[in-house]
Amino acid sequence: MNTPGYVKVVEVGPRDGLQNEKEIVPTEVKVALVDRLTEAGFVNIEAASFVSPKWVPQMADSADVMARIQRRPGTLYSALTPNMKGFEAAVEAGADEVVIFGAASEAFSQKNINCSIAESIARFAPVAAAAKERGLRLRASVSCALGCPYQGEVPVSAVVDVVRRMRELGCDEIDIADTIGVGTPARVQEVMRAAAAEFPIDRLSGHFHDTYGQALSNILASLDVGIAIFHASVAGLGGCPYAKGATGNVATEDVLYMLQGMGIHTGIDLEQVVRAGDFISRAIGRPNNSRVGRALLTKWGSAEAPATCV
Ligand code: HMG
Ligand code: MG
Repeated sequence: MNTPGYVKVVEVGPRDGLQNEKEIVPTEVKVALVDRLTEAGFVNIEAASFVSPKWVPQMADSADVMARIQRRPGTLYSALTPNMKGFEAAVEAGADEVVIFGAASEAFSQKNINCSIAESIARFAPVAAAAKERGLRLRASVSCALGCPYQGEVPVSAVVDVVRRMRELGCDEIDIADTIGVGTPARVQEVMRAAAAEFPIDRLSGHFHDTYGQALSNILASLDVGIAIFHASVAGLGGCPYAKGATGNVATEDVLYMLQGMGIHTGIDLEQVVRAGDFISRAIGRPNNSRVGRALLTKWGSAEAPATCV
């Protein structure tokens, strides 16, 4: 199988992981989580989201989080920016990378950002132009690339169409997102290959939620077709507030363990990530959803009995 020497693992737990928590997570906990992840060696952490606090109350303290984290030179701290209002707040907060997020499904676009795909591109255009003007890195996420919770099947052509539009906006990186974790390896490869016909494969990433337990397999399948950037969430935290029943992203610890076993370099310290996963699971009172995290904590004798062990 095709394997790169290095994979960039983007930690999205502080944003994608925590955004769905009903109980507001204290700002100092979010800051402590980002700081632990920084120490673990990530070069990219999605730390904030400048969206409407009425839509996603959990992310309302994003500016505070960004102000209080200890930044490490060489690590990019990213923030979601759905429109110019979000962009301005992200710039003010010192985000290194702004993320516009669209969808390959009309139904999901309406539910998530309250507009059609075409309208979303029009909203993203000034954000993209402003990001370029300021020399900020610009990333785009394409939700529902493998299926939609509202419309079901999503044609590959719909994904390709959004990827093309995001490329035209000047995006530096584009995420192919399986929002509800329904994708399976052959389909993932088909989508990745099709996306790669529109956008350089070394700047495409896989953002897999693990709802159906397919995420690691989908990462392997993606690696095999040349993808070398993956998103993951420490302790498998998360879910999208506008995708009912969707669980968290693939757990970072599980991805790192697999990549390490395959001899693929990430520059990230697995043990520190496991400790960060233990910290946040305890802090928010959730079972640790990383299999590797639970196994290693048990082996090290420093965890409570794993809560989701059956
Ligand atoms: P809207 O209601 O259509 O926007 O929302 P609007 O422009 O009409 O504004 C309405 C109100 O929102 C106004 O306030 C604005 O000021 C305020 P009011 O006058 O009523 O007091 N507002 C804002 N406030 C703060 N920051 C902003 C902002 N924009 C407007 N940036 C909007 C449109 C996109 C803002 C809204 O639908 C929204 O915030 N949606 C949240 C979507 C979201 O965060 N979803 C989760 C993240 S995406 C995700 O998880 C998927 C991903 O992980 C990939 C995957 O897995 O698929 C990335
Ligand atoms: Mg997501």
